[in-house]
Amino acid sequence: MNAVVAWLNWYRDMGVDMIGRPQGSPSYVAHPHPTPPLEGEGALQKVREELGDCKRCKLCSTRTHIVFGSGNQKAALMFVGEGPGKDEDFQGLPFVGKAGELLTKMIVAMGLSREEVYIANIVKCRPPNNRPPQEDEIAACQPFLRKQIEAIAPQIICALGSFAAQTLLASQVRISDLRGKFHDLHGIKVLPTFHPAYLLRNPAEKKKVWEDLQKIMAELKGGTAIVR
Ligand code: URA
Repeated sequence: MNAVVAWLNWYRDMGVDMIGRPQGSPSYVAHPHPTPPLEGEGALQKVREELGDCKRCKLCSTRTHIVFGSGNQKAALMFVGEGPGKDEDFQGLPFVGKAGELLTKMIVAMGLSREEVYIANIVKCRPPNNRPPQEDEIAACQPFLRKQIEAIAPQIICALGSFAAQTLLASQVRISDLRGKFHDLHGIKVLPTFHPAYLLRNPAEKKKVWEDLQKIMAELKGGTAIVR
């Protein structure tokens, strides 16, 4: 019961007044996507196979599991974070720790589930002690994130935090200036917002993130199905 109250309070503080699908969103309806997935159904699986037991950078020597990504390969909405933390490295799944719990709440508040979106990171292996990924590590991983994005061909990417936003957009602009606006990545709309881990430390910023997520919901409503 206490957990339910805590969840509801979290949503209230965020400014959420209703949890539900974007009104009028034709979910599960097939939709002609402007950027068709490259190789159809198995495209994501092929990317995973190509990645293999990756040893392309030094993170391989300290990781427990590769965290490839999880979710729906036909998702209209993709989230991209920085890199796996301790829990993610242990389980081999993205955003399953404390920040992940918050990301899940954010997705639910949008009227969606983790199974309807796709979640990935800039790097697929945990940097030791959660330090920021280094240039050579990003460079080794980038082709695979790019291929994942091509395979999924989402309508929108929500970049979580300054690292993901700046890396995806090849920008040095601060997250506080990038967030809340749609940017273009080869025809895909990228909306940066604050990272859930930052929100855990700065709960006062929740309202801004909810405003950002509502922009995504409005865009999804007017565009493609949640899952093609
Ligand atoms: N933070 C990230 O950026 N990614 C994860 O998968 C978990 C925490």
